[in-house]
Amino acid sequence: MCGIVGYIGSRQAAPLLLEGLAKLEYRGYDSAGISIRKPNGEIEVVKAKGRLKVLAEKVDDGNAIIGTAGIGHTRWATHGEPSEDNAHPHVSTNGEVIAVHNGIIENYQELKDKLVKAGYTFYSQTDTEVAVNLIEYYSNKYKQGPVDSIARAMIRIRGSYAMAVMFKNEDDSIYVCRKDSPLIIGLTEDEGFIASDVPAILNYTNQVYYIDNMEIARVQDGSAVFYNIDREETKKDLVTIEWDAQAAEKGGFEHFMMKEIHEQPKAARDTIGHYIVDEAINLSDISTQIAQLDGIEQIYIVACGSAYHVGIAAQYIIEDFAGVPVRVDLASEFRYRKPLLKKSDLVIVISQSGETADSLAALRLAVDQEIPTLAIVNVLGSSIAREAGDVLYTYAGPEIAVATTKAYSTQLLICYVLAVEWGLAKGRISDEEYHRLIKEIESLPAKMDRTLEDKERIQWFASKFANAHDMFFIGRGIDYAISMEGSLKMKEISYVHSEAYAAGELKHGTISLIEDGTLTVGILTQPDLYEKTISNMVEVKSRGGYIMGLTSYGNYNVEDTAHFTVYIPKTDPHFATSLAIIPLQLMGYYVSVSKGLDVDKPRNLAKSVTVE
Ligand code: F6R
Repeated sequence: MCGIVGYIGSRQAAPLLLEGLAKLEYRGYDSAGISIRKPNGEIEVVKAKGRLKVLAEKVDDGNAIIGTAGIGHTRWATHGEPSEDNAHPHVSTNGEVIAVHNGIIENYQELKDKLVKAGYTFYSQTDTEVAVNLIEYYSNKYKQGPVDSIARAMIRIRGSYAMAVMFKNEDDSIYVCRKDSPLIIGLTEDEGFIASDVPAILNYTNQVYYIDNMEIARVQDGSAVFYNIDREETKKDLVTIEWDAQAAEKGGFEHFMMKEIHEQPKAARDTIGHYIVDEAINLSDISTQIAQLDGIEQIYIVACGSAYHVGIAAQYIIEDFAGVPVRVDLASEFRYRKPLLKKSDLVIVISQSGETADSLAALRLAVDQEIPTLAIVNVLGSSIAREAGDVLYTYAGPEIAVATTKAYSTQLLICYVLAVEWGLAKGRISDEEYHRLIKEIESLPAKMDRTLEDKERIQWFASKFANAHDMFFIGRGIDYAISMEGSLKMKEISYVHSEAYAAGELKHGTISLIEDGTLTVGILTQPDLYEKTISNMVEVKSRGGYIMGLTSYGNYNVEDTAHFTVYIPKTDPHFATSLAIIPLQLMGYYVSVSKGLDVDKPRNLAKSVTVE
């Protein structure tokens, strides 16, 4: 939510900032702005409502503003509607402080009242304008320099923030600070880059610092100095990012989402290659206690959105293989429902970004109670990765499309690996079965490739339903977990109302919504539930519903019921989600494209939801 960039060096800053913002536009896209320090020392601010291209046109792709230092922002509105006034950067009342911000300042009204009393004026409805004025207030009151004024403001602000700040009278530095919202600094020999996320700067450097909570940094050409909240200098290590710059480009595909759907076999190979070595599961990245489930009696999986759907699938698999009860919670519920946690529990948090506010809060709740925690995360060095007791990284590479595909798929794979290892550790899986399951997991990437080959048929089918108002996705057990993710993919990018239902539950109310031609996708990858779900599909068909079946090759009698069928390669049913989700991702994608929608940046959404 909201993307921040900054640059200080010898090149022209404006084109670099626009390029970085384009890479971060997935974080928010209702307005954008940049501020550049011009050669005469003045700071010029240009903002525009709408997509980044409106701003780019306004500044002639950056060529209209000369200057080698600046900050930029792409916004996902929280306080204040999308408008030019509410767009960032924001400028303090006396023009001394200019800043961009990602996050939410919870006590902004109280701070605003204090500043108004002190004579400060406001032109926007944003909480960010309160922060810039507060920094200016402390700067004028104590006259101790930028680090001191930022630190004083941070102590007063409640909420989450990542900020990049320019001071009118400090022409050789940009300052940054953060609490609970991501921010990194990248360095070359003589340049400093600031960004909310790695893809924004990967074209220029892979040497980055992760800024910690309640930390401040002064960024100059080629260097960064860090301070804690007490204004003492601290030391930290540069981290080398392994992702290559090309991974964050569209690479010939029309949309990032399509590229990322096609990257799933590779992402799966990379993830499996890390955790399965010489035909054995390798969990040496985490403690033996968690790797062997020593003394763990109950598992909680906590996540949001698609990552939650991974948890639902994992629940069935872990319970089946390891025989340990699993409860799956939405992070936004878990954090407030006062869960009755015990020391013998394990809390697993799944998150692509590692920054999702609710997931992070859920993790902290468990960490505070000294419950063992394990994070499954894609973004190296993200808050959830750093704060969890143990971390298993997914090797999906940068995911840019707002709708997740390859990160979801790699999260699933880690859950499979855990479930199989735990099954062996608990003595519920024999050595022979263990090796069979490992081979099965290793065969998934090639089967994903085969599943992708069917995309033209899915494109044709999806285009027929571009005008649909409602869709239903039904399945039982793991097929229900697949339905949930398939339904989310459809609704979030194509704006078709869709619902996922446990197939046996439809008749308890929802079936009254079935009208002539309503599309219901029946998912049938679980042999022991196949006949049951077929019966539920027949119930829908006999009420006029149009039926699509999604099942494994060999189950050809589904065609007696379904009007249209998609087949996936056979695999162990525990792992079917990895294949069955691909046609459903493609369906969502093609319906969205047929409707002419912005697939990568669906309305009202943003990737990495850092507000609760
Ligand atoms: C849907 C989607 C979201 C995320 C959710 C959690 O396509 O991407 O539902 O899965 O916002 O995000 P992370 O995994 O970053 O915690």
